[in-house]
Amino acid sequence: MKAFPLMALLLAVGAHAAEPQDRAVRNYNVYCVQCHGVNRDGNGINSRDMAVKPRDHTDTKAMGDTPDELLFKAIKGGGLAVGKSVLMPRWDGVMSDEEIGELVGYLRIVSKTATK
Ligand code: HEC
Repeated sequence: MKAFPLMALLLAVGAHAAEPQDRAVRNYNVYCVQCHGVNRDGNGINSRDMAVKPRDHTDTKAMGDTPDELLFKAIKGGGLAVGKSVLMPRWDGVMSDEEIGELVGYLRIVSKTATK
């Protein structure tokens, strides 16, 4: 029965992903890396051909100057919702408000701008 170890592994990964932090990392890896990059620095594989460069989420200064509400709004409504580029897609309907909130918290960790 070869499938069993794989099943066990998938179950273990699934259980682990139940933590909110893990869900944010997983969502980021699925929805954001192609533009914002595996290193979260704005250098995703798509970014090379983009007229507006994706935000560098490791930029402590720029991220620190952007309040949570704005990050939330930008993720939920896309770049246009915050007067930025349409190249930043809207994620409303793809992710719940709860998931978007978790991403904001995760971005605070990535950018080292967490206040608590
Ligand atoms: C198709 C490419 C693309 C994808 C996918 C993408 N982004 Fe972006 N994102 C951008 C671009 C381009 C900008 C810069 C917009 C600007 O400066 O005008 C940006 C900007 C941002 C900003 C900064 C907004 C601000 O007010 O400065 C945040 C936060 C952000 N993205 C989060 C995310 C998150 C989280 C995801 C995944 C759920 C994601 N992005 C997926 C392209 C993308």
